[in-house]
Amino acid sequence: MNIIPRPFETKVKDGNTCFSASTRVNCDFDIIKSELNFLDFEEGEVNDITFKIGETDFDYELTIDGDITVVAKTEEGLFHGCQTLKQLIFDGYRDGVATLENCVIKDKPRFPYRSFMLDIVRHFFDKEVIKGLIDILALVKINRFHLHLSDNQGYRVESTAFPALNEKANFRPGTKGDGVPVGGYLTKDDVREIVAYAGERFIEVVPEVDLPGHTLAFLLAMPELGCTGEQYTPTESYGIDDRILSAGNEKVYDFVEKLLTELSELFPSKYFHLGGDEVPKSQWRQCKKCQELMAKEGLNDCEELQGYFTNRVINILKSLGKTPIVWNEALYSGILDDSAICQYWSDGKKATAVRDALASGRKMYVSRTFPYYIDYPHGMNKLKSTYNFEPTSCFKGVSAENIDENIMGVECPLWTEWVADVDKLHCQAFPRTIAVAETGWSTPEKDYKDFEERLYNVLGMLEAYEIGYTHPKKANPNPFKALGETLSFLINMIEPAAIKSLINARDAKKGMKK
Ligand code: ACM
Repeated sequence: MNIIPRPFETKVKDGNTCFSASTRVNCDFDIIKSELNFLDFEEGEVNDITFKIGETDFDYELTIDGDITVVAKTEEGLFHGCQTLKQLIFDGYRDGVATLENCVIKDKPRFPYRSFMLDIVRHFFDKEVIKGLIDILALVKINRFHLHLSDNQGYRVESTAFPALNEKANFRPGTKGDGVPVGGYLTKDDVREIVAYAGERFIEVVPEVDLPGHTLAFLLAMPELGCTGEQYTPTESYGIDDRILSAGNEKVYDFVEKLLTELSELFPSKYFHLGGDEVPKSQWRQCKKCQELMAKEGLNDCEELQGYFTNRVINILKSLGKTPIVWNEALYSGILDDSAICQYWSDGKKATAVRDALASGRKMYVSRTFPYYIDYPHGMNKLKSTYNFEPTSCFKGVSAENIDENIMGVECPLWTEWVADVDKLHCQAFPRTIAVAETGWSTPEKDYKDFEERLYNVLGMLEAYEIGYTHPKKANPNPFKALGETLSFLINMIEPAAIKSLINARDAKKGMKK
Protein backbone atom coordinates (compact mmCIF):
# COMPACT_ATOMS: atom_id res chain seq x y z
CA MET A 1 0.00 0.00 0.00
CA ASN A 2 1.25 3.48 -0.83
CA ILE A 3 1.95 4.74 2.67
CA ILE A 4 5.00 6.67 3.92
CA PRO A 5 6.40 6.05 6.46
CA ARG A 6 5.94 2.31 5.91
CA PRO A 7 3.72 1.01 8.75
CA PHE A 8 4.98 -1.56 11.22
CA GLU A 9 2.45 -4.19 10.10
CA THR A 10 -0.05 -4.21 7.23
CA LYS A 11 -2.50 -7.04 6.46
CA VAL A 12 -4.53 -6.63 3.29
CA LYS A 13 -7.99 -8.29 3.35
CA ASP A 14 -10.54 -9.13 0.67
CA GLY A 15 -12.87 -6.42 -0.52
CA ASN A 16 -13.01 -2.64 -0.65
CA THR A 17 -14.46 0.16 1.44
CA CYS A 18 -15.77 3.46 0.28
CA PHE A 19 -14.92 6.86 1.78
CA SER A 20 -17.26 9.60 0.57
CA ALA A 21 -19.45 12.52 1.67
CA SER A 22 -21.89 9.87 2.92
CA THR A 23 -19.34 8.41 5.35
CA ARG A 24 -20.44 9.39 8.87
CA VAL A 25 -17.50 10.74 10.87
CA ASN A 26 -17.55 9.76 14.56
CA CYS A 27 -14.74 11.69 16.16
CA ASP A 28 -14.36 14.05 19.11
CA PHE A 29 -11.26 15.77 17.76
CA ASP A 30 -11.70 18.81 15.51
CA ILE A 31 -8.23 18.65 14.00
CA ILE A 32 -8.86 15.10 12.75
CA LYS A 33 -12.25 16.04 11.30
CA SER A 34 -10.70 18.98 9.47
CA GLU A 35 -7.76 16.88 8.26
CA LEU A 36 -10.16 14.45 6.59
CA ASN A 37 -11.80 17.29 4.74
CA PHE A 38 -8.90 17.73 2.31
CA LEU A 39 -10.62 16.78 -0.96
CA ASP A 40 -14.05 17.45 -2.49
CA PHE A 41 -16.19 14.42 -1.76
CA GLU A 42 -19.47 13.37 -3.41
CA GLU A 43 -22.23 11.21 -1.95
CA GLY A 44 -21.54 7.46 -1.97
CA GLU A 45 -22.20 4.35 0.13
CA VAL A 46 -23.35 5.10 3.67
CA ASN A 47 -20.84 3.82 6.24
CA ASP A 48 -19.00 4.93 9.38
CA ILE A 49 -15.54 6.14 10.23
CA THR A 50 -14.78 6.11 13.95
CA PHE A 51 -11.76 7.48 15.81
CA LYS A 52 -11.70 6.27 19.38
CA ILE A 53 -9.35 6.23 22.33
CA GLY A 54 -8.82 2.63 23.46
CA GLU A 55 -6.29 0.01 24.51
CA THR A 56 -3.65 -1.07 21.98
CA ASP A 57 0.02 -2.06 22.07
CA PHE A 58 0.62 0.17 19.05
CA ASP A 59 0.67 3.90 18.33
CA TYR A 60 -2.59 3.31 16.45
CA GLU A 61 -4.56 0.52 14.78
CA LEU A 62 -6.47 1.18 11.59
CA THR A 63 -9.12 -1.27 10.38
CA ILE A 64 -10.86 -0.89 7.02
CA ASP A 65 -13.61 -3.48 6.52
CA GLY A 66 -16.72 -1.78 5.18
CA ASP A 67 -16.49 0.76 7.98
CA ILE A 68 -13.25 2.43 9.07
CA THR A 69 -11.98 2.40 12.64
CA VAL A 70 -8.91 4.01 14.16
CA VAL A 71 -8.03 3.10 17.75
CA ALA A 72 -5.20 4.65 19.76
CA LYS A 73 -4.34 5.30 23.38
CA THR A 74 -3.81 9.02 22.68
CA GLU A 75 -5.12 11.74 20.42
CA GLU A 76 -1.62 11.85 18.89
CA GLY A 77 -1.95 8.20 17.89
CA LEU A 78 -5.35 8.91 16.35
CA PHE A 79 -3.81 11.82 14.44
CA HIS A 80 -1.09 9.51 13.08
CA GLY A 81 -3.72 6.98 12.04
CA CYS A 82 -5.56 9.81 10.31
CA GLN A 83 -2.40 10.71 8.31
CA THR A 84 -2.07 7.10 7.13
CA LEU A 85 -5.71 7.11 6.14
CA LYS A 86 -5.35 10.42 4.31
CA GLN A 87 -2.64 8.90 2.13
CA LEU A 88 -4.85 5.89 1.37
CA ILE A 89 -7.81 8.13 0.59
CA PHE A 90 -5.72 10.28 -1.75
CA ASP A 91 -4.43 7.14 -3.49
CA GLY A 92 -7.92 5.71 -3.95
CA TYR A 93 -9.70 8.95 -4.86
CA ARG A 94 -11.55 9.10 -8.20
CA ASP A 95 -14.50 11.37 -9.10
CA GLY A 96 -15.35 12.46 -5.58
CA VAL A 97 -15.18 9.05 -3.87
CA ALA A 98 -12.23 7.09 -2.47
CA THR A 99 -12.12 3.30 -2.76
CA LEU A 100 -9.90 1.74 -0.12
CA GLU A 101 -8.58 -1.82 0.03
CA ASN A 102 -9.76 -3.55 3.18
CA CYS A 103 -6.89 -3.98 5.62
CA VAL A 104 -5.69 -3.97 9.20
CA ILE A 105 -2.69 -1.72 9.96
CA LYS A 106 -0.88 -1.81 13.29
CA ASP A 107 1.72 0.88 13.50
CA LYS A 108 4.30 2.37 15.86
CA PRO A 109 7.44 4.51 15.51
CA ARG A 110 11.01 3.25 15.66
CA PHE A 111 12.38 6.50 17.19
CA PRO A 112 10.66 9.04 19.43
CA TYR A 113 12.53 12.05 17.93
CA ARG A 114 11.85 12.68 14.23
CA SER A 115 12.89 16.18 13.30
CA PHE A 116 13.27 18.72 10.52
CA MET A 117 15.37 21.88 10.89
CA LEU A 118 14.91 25.19 9.11
CA ASP A 119 17.44 28.02 9.23
CA ILE A 120 15.44 31.27 9.02
CA VAL A 121 18.53 33.41 9.53
CA ARG A 122 20.62 33.14 6.39
CA HIS A 123 17.38 33.74 4.52
CA PHE A 124 14.16 34.57 6.27
CA PHE A 125 10.98 32.54 5.71
CA ASP A 126 7.70 33.75 7.14
CA LYS A 127 4.95 32.00 9.11
CA GLU A 128 2.94 30.99 6.02
CA VAL A 129 5.93 29.18 4.53
CA ILE A 130 6.60 27.51 7.85
CA LYS A 131 2.97 26.39 8.23
CA GLY A 132 3.06 24.95 4.70
CA LEU A 133 6.09 22.87 5.68
CA ILE A 134 4.36 21.76 8.89
CA ASP A 135 1.45 20.31 6.86
CA ILE A 136 3.85 18.01 5.03
CA LEU A 137 5.88 17.13 8.12
CA ALA A 138 2.65 16.10 9.86
CA LEU A 139 1.67 13.98 6.87
CA VAL A 140 4.83 11.86 7.29
CA LYS A 141 4.69 11.78 11.10
CA ILE A 142 7.63 14.04 11.86
CA ASN A 143 7.17 15.38 15.39
CA ARG A 144 9.83 18.07 15.89
CA PHE A 145 10.46 21.32 14.01
CA HIS A 146 13.86 22.76 14.95
CA LEU A 147 13.97 26.50 14.17
CA HIS A 148 17.46 27.99 13.85
CA LEU A 149 16.71 31.54 15.02
CA SER A 150 20.04 33.27 15.48
CA ASP A 151 23.35 33.39 13.69
CA ASN A 152 25.93 35.84 12.39
CA GLN A 153 23.45 37.19 9.85
CA GLY A 154 20.53 37.90 12.15
CA TYR A 155 18.23 37.30 15.08
CA ARG A 156 14.79 36.43 13.78
CA VAL A 157 12.28 36.87 16.60
CA GLU A 158 10.67 40.02 17.95
CA SER A 159 12.31 40.93 21.24
CA THR A 160 10.81 43.26 23.80
CA ALA A 161 13.67 42.54 26.19
CA PHE A 162 16.22 43.68 23.58
CA PRO A 163 14.54 45.82 20.87
CA ALA A 164 18.00 46.62 19.48
CA LEU A 165 18.09 43.06 18.12
CA ASN A 166 15.20 43.89 15.80
CA GLU A 167 16.51 47.34 14.96
CA LYS A 168 20.12 46.43 14.24
CA ALA A 169 20.54 42.69 13.98
CA ASN A 170 18.19 41.32 11.36
CA PHE A 171 19.09 43.07 8.16
CA ARG A 172 21.92 42.85 5.68
CA PRO A 173 22.22 44.92 2.52
CA GLY A 174 23.12 41.95 0.34
CA THR A 175 24.93 38.66 -0.02
CA LYS A 176 28.45 38.64 -1.44
CA GLY A 177 27.80 42.12 -2.87
CA ASP A 178 24.67 41.19 -4.85
CA GLY A 179 22.76 44.20 -3.52
CA VAL A 180 19.66 42.14 -2.65
CA PRO A 181 18.68 43.07 0.90
CA VAL A 182 17.74 40.28 3.31
CA GLY A 183 15.86 40.87 6.53
CA GLY A 184 12.77 40.09 8.56
CA TYR A 185 11.81 38.42 11.79
CA LEU A 186 8.88 36.57 13.33
CA THR A 187 6.71 38.69 15.57
CA LYS A 188 5.73 37.16 18.90
CA ASP A 189 2.24 36.62 17.49
CA ASP A 190 3.74 34.82 14.48
CA VAL A 191 5.62 32.50 16.83
CA ARG A 192 2.48 31.81 18.85
CA GLU A 193 0.59 31.01 15.66
CA ILE A 194 3.32 28.67 14.39
CA VAL A 195 3.65 26.92 17.75
CA ALA A 196 -0.13 26.44 17.99
CA TYR A 197 -0.42 25.24 14.38
CA ALA A 198 2.41 22.76 14.87
CA GLY A 199 1.09 21.70 18.27
CA GLU A 200 -2.34 20.84 16.87
CA ARG A 201 -0.48 18.52 14.49
CA PHE A 202 1.60 17.01 17.32
CA ILE A 203 4.80 18.74 16.26
CA GLU A 204 6.91 20.44 18.91
CA VAL A 205 8.76 23.55 17.73
CA VAL A 206 12.27 23.49 19.20
CA PRO A 207 13.99 26.90 19.16
CA GLU A 208 17.74 27.27 18.70
CA VAL A 209 19.87 30.19 19.81
CA ASP A 210 23.39 29.34 18.71
CA LEU A 211 25.92 30.13 21.49
CA PRO A 212 28.67 31.23 21.97
CA GLY A 213 29.75 31.16 18.30
CA HIS A 214 27.64 32.24 15.31
CA THR A 215 26.77 35.35 17.35
CA LEU A 216 27.85 38.33 15.26
CA ALA A 217 24.22 39.53 15.08
CA PHE A 218 24.16 39.99 18.86
CA LEU A 219 27.33 42.07 18.65
CA LEU A 220 25.82 44.31 15.96
CA ALA A 221 23.10 45.26 18.45
CA MET A 222 25.22 45.18 21.61
CA PRO A 223 28.94 45.58 20.88
CA GLU A 224 29.68 45.60 24.62
CA LEU A 225 28.94 41.84 24.68
CA GLY A 226 32.00 41.09 22.55
CA CYS A 227 35.63 40.74 23.58
CA THR A 228 36.70 43.96 21.85
CA GLY A 229 33.64 46.22 22.22
CA GLU A 230 34.04 47.12 18.55
CA GLN A 231 30.95 48.18 16.55
CA TYR A 232 30.78 45.75 13.64
CA THR A 233 28.74 46.05 10.45
CA PRO A 234 26.42 43.33 9.06
CA THR A 235 28.24 40.58 7.20
CA GLU A 236 27.45 39.72 3.59
CA SER A 237 29.37 36.44 3.86
CA TYR A 238 28.74 33.04 5.35
CA GLY A 239 31.03 30.53 6.98
CA ILE A 240 32.60 30.65 10.41
CA ASP A 241 33.15 34.06 11.96
CA ASP A 242 35.62 34.58 14.79
CA ARG A 243 33.70 37.56 16.23
CA ILE A 244 31.79 35.94 19.08
CA LEU A 245 30.26 36.68 22.47
CA SER A 246 32.75 37.13 25.29
CA ALA A 247 32.80 34.35 27.87
CA GLY A 248 34.45 36.50 30.50
CA ASN A 249 31.86 39.26 30.72
CA GLU A 250 29.04 38.78 33.26
CA LYS A 251 26.81 41.01 31.14
CA VAL A 252 26.76 38.26 28.51
CA TYR A 253 25.25 35.76 30.94
CA ASP A 254 22.65 38.34 32.01
CA PHE A 255 21.81 38.93 28.33
CA VAL A 256 21.56 35.20 27.61
CA GLU A 257 19.35 34.62 30.65
CA LYS A 258 16.93 37.40 29.68
CA LEU A 259 16.85 36.33 26.03
CA LEU A 260 16.27 32.65 26.80
CA THR A 261 13.60 33.56 29.34
CA GLU A 262 11.79 35.64 26.72
CA LEU A 263 12.00 32.82 24.19
CA SER A 264 10.99 30.13 26.66
CA GLU A 265 7.76 32.02 27.26
CA LEU A 266 7.08 31.89 23.52
CA PHE A 267 8.20 28.32 22.81
CA PRO A 268 6.62 25.83 25.22
CA SER A 269 8.77 22.94 23.91
CA LYS A 270 10.45 20.75 26.50
CA TYR A 271 13.66 21.13 24.48
CA PHE A 272 15.86 24.14 23.78
CA HIS A 273 18.81 24.00 21.39
CA LEU A 274 21.75 26.15 22.43
CA GLY A 275 24.01 25.49 19.47
CA GLY A 276 27.68 25.23 20.38
CA ASP A 277 29.05 24.42 16.91
CA GLU A 278 32.05 25.97 15.17
CA VAL A 279 33.45 28.27 17.88
CA PRO A 280 36.81 29.82 16.93
CA LYS A 281 38.55 30.95 20.12
CA SER A 282 40.98 33.56 18.76
CA GLN A 283 39.16 36.47 20.43
CA TRP A 284 38.90 34.60 23.73
CA ARG A 285 42.65 33.97 23.69
CA GLN A 286 43.28 37.74 23.36
CA CYS A 287 40.57 38.85 25.81
CA LYS A 288 41.65 39.96 29.29
CA LYS A 289 38.27 39.15 30.85
CA CYS A 290 38.15 35.67 29.29
CA GLN A 291 41.69 34.93 30.44
CA GLU A 292 40.94 36.18 33.96
CA LEU A 293 37.85 33.97 34.13
CA MET A 294 39.85 30.94 33.00
CA ALA A 295 42.43 31.58 35.73
CA LYS A 296 39.72 32.09 38.35
CA GLU A 297 37.85 28.92 37.40
CA GLY A 298 41.01 26.83 36.85
CA LEU A 299 40.16 26.19 33.21
CA ASN A 300 43.07 24.76 31.25
CA ASP A 301 42.23 26.05 27.78
CA CYS A 302 39.61 27.81 25.70
CA GLU A 303 37.88 24.52 24.94
CA GLU A 304 37.17 24.19 28.65
CA LEU A 305 36.05 27.81 28.64
CA GLN A 306 33.41 26.85 26.05
CA GLY A 307 32.42 23.97 28.34
CA TYR A 308 32.12 26.42 31.26
CA PHE A 309 30.08 28.86 29.15
CA THR A 310 27.79 26.13 27.85
CA ASN A 311 27.23 24.67 31.30
CA ARG A 312 26.18 28.08 32.60
CA VAL A 313 23.69 28.39 29.75
CA ILE A 314 22.50 24.85 30.49
CA ASN A 315 21.85 25.89 34.11
CA ILE A 316 19.78 28.81 32.88
CA LEU A 317 17.79 26.46 30.64
CA LYS A 318 17.29 23.98 33.47
CA SER A 319 15.94 26.77 35.67
CA LEU A 320 13.48 27.48 32.86
CA GLY A 321 12.44 23.82 32.87
CA LYS A 322 14.09 23.00 29.53
CA THR A 323 16.14 20.04 28.34
CA PRO A 324 19.18 21.42 26.50
CA ILE A 325 20.38 20.24 23.09
CA VAL A 326 23.84 20.99 21.66
CA TRP A 327 25.66 20.37 18.38
CA ASN A 328 28.39 17.76 18.81
CA GLU A 329 31.32 20.23 19.14
CA ALA A 330 30.02 21.12 22.61
CA LEU A 331 31.16 17.66 23.73
CA TYR A 332 34.82 18.44 23.15
CA SER A 333 35.50 20.37 26.34
CA GLY A 334 35.18 17.11 28.24
CA ILE A 335 33.16 18.90 30.96
CA LEU A 336 29.74 19.19 29.29
CA ASP A 337 26.81 18.70 31.66
CA ASP A 338 25.35 15.19 31.33
CA SER A 339 21.82 16.47 30.80
CA ALA A 340 22.57 17.94 27.36
CA ILE A 341 21.37 15.96 24.36
CA CYS A 342 23.88 15.85 21.52
CA GLN A 343 22.91 16.48 17.91
CA TYR A 344 25.51 14.62 15.85
CA TRP A 345 26.25 16.33 12.54
CA SER A 346 30.01 16.06 11.95
CA ASP A 347 32.71 14.43 13.99
CA GLY A 348 35.31 13.35 11.46
CA LYS A 349 35.18 10.07 9.61
CA LYS A 350 35.07 7.90 12.70
CA ALA A 351 32.77 9.95 14.93
CA THR A 352 35.10 9.17 17.83
CA ALA A 353 33.99 11.73 20.41
CA VAL A 354 30.34 11.25 19.58
CA ARG A 355 30.70 7.47 19.77
CA ASP A 356 32.44 7.69 23.17
CA ALA A 357 29.74 10.03 24.47
CA LEU A 358 27.05 7.62 23.32
CA ALA A 359 28.88 4.69 24.89
CA SER A 360 28.91 6.53 28.19
CA GLY A 361 25.18 7.14 28.06
CA ARG A 362 24.71 10.55 26.42
CA LYS A 363 21.36 10.94 24.62
CA MET A 364 21.75 11.76 20.98
CA TYR A 365 20.07 12.17 17.64
CA VAL A 366 21.64 11.92 14.23
CA SER A 367 21.74 14.49 11.45
CA ARG A 368 25.09 13.62 9.88
CA THR A 369 26.08 16.03 7.09
CA PHE A 370 26.40 13.21 4.58
CA PRO A 371 23.65 12.34 3.76
CA TYR A 372 21.23 14.35 5.96
CA TYR A 373 22.13 17.97 5.11
CA ILE A 374 19.35 18.68 2.67
CA ASP A 375 20.63 22.14 1.78
CA TYR A 376 23.37 20.30 -0.11
CA PRO A 377 22.62 19.63 -3.78
CA HIS A 378 21.22 16.23 -4.71
CA GLY A 379 24.56 15.54 -6.39
CA MET A 380 26.14 15.54 -2.93
CA ASN A 381 23.30 14.00 -0.93
CA LYS A 382 21.23 11.90 -3.32
CA LEU A 383 17.70 10.93 -2.31
CA LYS A 384 18.75 7.29 -2.46
CA SER A 385 21.71 7.87 -0.10
CA THR A 386 19.55 9.86 2.31
CA TYR A 387 16.95 7.09 2.25
CA ASN A 388 19.40 4.20 2.63
CA PHE A 389 21.41 5.74 5.47
CA GLU A 390 21.13 3.79 8.72
CA PRO A 391 21.65 6.28 11.57
CA THR A 392 23.03 3.73 14.00
CA SER A 393 25.75 2.66 11.54
CA CYS A 394 27.96 5.55 12.71
CA PHE A 395 28.48 3.96 16.10
CA LYS A 396 30.41 0.78 15.42
CA GLY A 397 31.68 -0.68 18.66
CA VAL A 398 28.94 0.80 20.84
CA SER A 399 26.73 -1.85 22.42
CA ALA A 400 23.27 -2.52 21.00
CA GLU A 401 21.77 -1.67 24.42
CA ASN A 402 23.48 1.72 24.44
CA ILE A 403 22.32 2.45 20.91
CA ASP A 404 18.75 1.39 21.72
CA GLU A 405 18.66 3.39 24.88
CA ASN A 406 20.40 6.58 23.76
CA ILE A 407 19.76 7.18 20.08
CA MET A 408 16.58 9.20 20.17
CA GLY A 409 16.13 9.71 16.46
CA VAL A 410 17.02 11.66 13.36
CA GLU A 411 16.86 15.15 11.89
CA CYS A 412 17.42 16.62 8.44
CA PRO A 413 18.69 20.20 8.67
CA LEU A 414 17.92 22.72 5.94
CA TRP A 415 20.43 25.56 6.10
CA THR A 416 19.54 28.46 3.87
CA GLU A 417 22.77 30.18 2.85
CA TRP A 418 22.01 29.28 -0.76
CA VAL A 419 18.25 28.93 -0.45
CA ALA A 420 16.78 32.34 -1.10
CA ASP A 421 13.20 31.53 -2.16
CA VAL A 422 10.33 29.22 -1.35
CA ASP A 423 10.53 27.15 -4.56
CA LYS A 424 14.15 26.30 -3.90
CA LEU A 425 13.33 25.61 -0.25
CA HIS A 426 10.68 23.07 -1.24
CA CYS A 427 12.90 21.43 -3.85
CA GLN A 428 15.71 21.00 -1.31
CA ALA A 429 13.34 19.76 1.40
CA PHE A 430 11.29 17.28 -0.61
CA PRO A 431 11.43 14.40 -1.11
CA ARG A 432 14.55 13.98 1.06
CA THR A 433 12.71 14.96 4.25
CA ILE A 434 10.15 12.27 3.44
CA ALA A 435 12.97 9.71 3.23
CA VAL A 436 14.28 10.78 6.64
CA ALA A 437 10.76 10.61 8.05
CA GLU A 438 10.57 6.96 7.01
CA THR A 439 13.94 6.22 8.65
CA GLY A 440 12.69 7.86 11.83
CA TRP A 441 9.45 5.91 11.94
CA SER A 442 9.78 2.56 10.17
CA THR A 443 11.79 -0.56 11.01
CA PRO A 444 15.33 -0.40 9.59
CA GLU A 445 14.92 -2.64 6.49
CA LYS A 446 15.45 -0.60 3.35
CA ASP A 447 14.24 -1.15 -0.21
CA TYR A 448 14.72 2.06 -2.19
CA LYS A 449 12.69 0.87 -5.19
CA ASP A 450 9.72 0.07 -2.99
CA PHE A 451 10.10 3.46 -1.25
CA GLU A 452 10.14 5.30 -4.57
CA GLU A 453 7.00 3.48 -5.73
CA ARG A 454 5.18 4.52 -2.55
CA LEU A 455 6.61 8.04 -2.79
CA TYR A 456 4.65 9.11 -5.89
CA ASN A 457 1.37 9.10 -3.97
CA VAL A 458 2.77 11.46 -1.32
CA LEU A 459 4.30 13.66 -4.02
CA GLY A 460 0.82 13.91 -5.56
CA MET A 461 -0.38 15.15 -2.18
CA LEU A 462 2.38 17.77 -2.12
CA GLU A 463 1.08 18.99 -5.48
CA ALA A 464 -2.42 19.23 -4.00
CA TYR A 465 -0.96 21.32 -1.16
CA GLU A 466 0.93 23.42 -3.76
CA ILE A 467 4.25 22.44 -2.25
CA GLY A 468 7.10 21.90 -4.69
CA TYR A 469 9.59 19.03 -4.78
CA THR A 470 12.41 17.58 -6.82
CA HIS A 471 11.37 14.67 -9.00
CA PRO A 472 13.01 11.43 -7.78
CA LYS A 473 14.90 11.13 -11.09
CA LYS A 474 16.50 14.53 -10.58
CA ALA A 475 16.98 13.80 -6.90
CA ASN A 476 19.23 10.85 -7.88
CA PRO A 477 21.47 12.48 -10.52
CA ASN A 478 23.89 10.37 -12.55
CA PRO A 479 27.60 10.74 -11.63
CA PHE A 480 28.20 13.30 -14.36
CA LYS A 481 25.31 15.54 -13.24
CA ALA A 482 26.22 14.95 -9.59
CA LEU A 483 29.75 16.22 -10.23
CA GLY A 484 28.38 19.31 -11.99
CA GLU A 485 26.02 20.08 -9.09
CA THR A 486 28.80 19.56 -6.56
CA LEU A 487 31.24 21.80 -8.41
CA SER A 488 28.75 24.62 -8.87
CA PHE A 489 27.81 24.40 -5.17
CA LEU A 490 31.45 24.61 -4.13
CA ILE A 491 32.35 27.34 -6.65
CA ASN A 492 29.45 29.41 -5.35
CA MET A 493 31.07 29.33 -1.92
CA ILE A 494 34.38 30.76 -3.11
CA GLU A 495 34.98 34.33 -1.91
CA PRO A 496 37.73 36.04 0.10
CA ALA A 497 35.79 35.50 3.36
CA ALA A 498 35.80 31.73 2.72
CA ILE A 499 39.56 31.62 3.36
CA LYS A 500 39.08 33.37 6.71
CA SER A 501 36.26 30.94 7.44
CA LEU A 502 38.55 27.97 6.77
CA ILE A 503 41.15 29.44 9.13
CA ASN A 504 38.41 29.95 11.73
CA ALA A 505 37.20 26.38 11.21
CA ARG A 506 40.71 25.11 11.96
CA ASP A 507 40.81 27.32 15.01
CA ALA A 508 37.42 26.04 16.16
CA LYS A 509 38.82 22.50 16.04
CA LYS A 510 42.05 23.38 17.83
CA GLY A 511 42.22 21.94 21.29
CA MET A 512 39.32 19.54 20.73
CA LYS A 513 39.70 16.71 23.20
CA LYS A 514 38.52 13.48 21.69
C1 ACM B 1 26.48 23.08 11.60
O1 ACM B 1 26.23 22.64 10.47
N1 ACM B 1 27.35 24.06 11.74
C2 ACM B 1 25.85 22.54 12.79
